[in-house]
Amino acid sequence: MKRGTDFLGCDYAIMGGAMSWISERNLVSAISNAGGFGVIACGAMPPDLLDKEIAATKEMTSKPFGVNLITMHPDLDELIDICAKHEVSHVVLAGGLPSGKAIAKIKDNGAKLIAFAPALALAKKLKRSGVDALVVEGMEAGGHIGPVSTSVLAQEILPHMAEDMPVFVAGGIGRGSAIAAYLEMGAVGVQLGTRFVCAYECIAHENFKKAFIRGNARDAILSVQIDPRLPVIPVRALKNKEMDRFAAKQREVADRLDREEIAMNEAQLQIEHYWAGALKRAVIDGDVETGSVMAGQSVGMVKSEQPVAEIIAELVDDAAAALERRG
Ligand SMILES: Cc1cc2nc3c(=O)[nH]c(=O)nc-3n(C[C@H](O)[C@H](O)[C@H](O)COP(=O)(O)O)c2cc1C
Repeated sequence: MKRGTDFLGCDYAIMGGAMSWISERNLVSAISNAGGFGVIACGAMPPDLLDKEIAATKEMTSKPFGVNLITMHPDLDELIDICAKHEVSHVVLAGGLPSGKAIAKIKDNGAKLIAFAPALALAKKLKRSGVDALVVEGMEAGGHIGPVSTSVLAQEILPHMAEDMPVFVAGGIGRGSAIAAYLEMGAVGVQLGTRFVCAYECIAHENFKKAFIRGNARDAILSVQIDPRLPVIPVRALKNKEMDRFAAKQREVADRLDREEIAMNEAQLQIEHYWAGALKRAVIDGDVETGSVMAGQSVGMVKSEQPVAEIIAELVDDAAAALERRG
């Protein structure tokens, strides 16, 4: 993990993956204070809210933390300025390939830039365009995902990229033994989301946490795409009524496309906004039947509410034990 901890400036190269609505001051500062690396989820936040959230997080920790920005956010430029104003050390760009302009702006501000590499060719492209580190995230993860599993992506990308730049692996990591395996394959660290949802410090509604504690790997299913003309990024979440509502929403948006009432990019934006609202309904309001309970397949390894420090200590001890067993 040494390269990972040097790069992030923390004790353990375990990043708390940004989760919309809940990766805010409490969870982010708790992860950084426990020696990991917390990341604020900007999501659809307007710039003034991000400004307040970063300031509040700085009040709660003196350790480094990152900010995750979505590339398609209409105010991306301003959000990058807010990160610069607070001298945020690491910016994570998610939700599609970042533009050259956004990359240059973040780097000019002196921040380190982390991006998601969904395939080897794109990993190489991101490196050429100046990205400092990569996250390789497989389809076991919770939230919006790509089509390839973590183990395959890691085998595809690590042998070619790991020597040249720090690569973090994400998706389906529930125990330290898996962290040890990815470190052995060349990763410098990992990113986890699902395991941190039931942290005491996480503001997720207690119904959301209870659903996680009850849930098993096979309950964390993928959303279905209804209309081939309307490509939607699949979302992994716990099976509930919401999954049927999403099918209905897609049909409604596809019908509007048919009637030429909206254009394709507007249709896709409506789907994205729909998800943000559905997640908020479940994770903040506690409606886990008609809201989206986004969760990764590692949900079955979440057994109780725990302090962040205990979760990180368990992961680190388990990883160390696994490496010792290998001699
Ligand atoms: C409830 C939830 C919300 C998420 N929201 C976001 C997000 O807003 N932006 C993002 O880049 N990733 C998001 N993710 C993905 C996480 O940052 C992280 O990469 C992922 O959870 C790692 O895989 P794991 O769930 O198997 O640990 C979310 C994941 C979950 C479970």
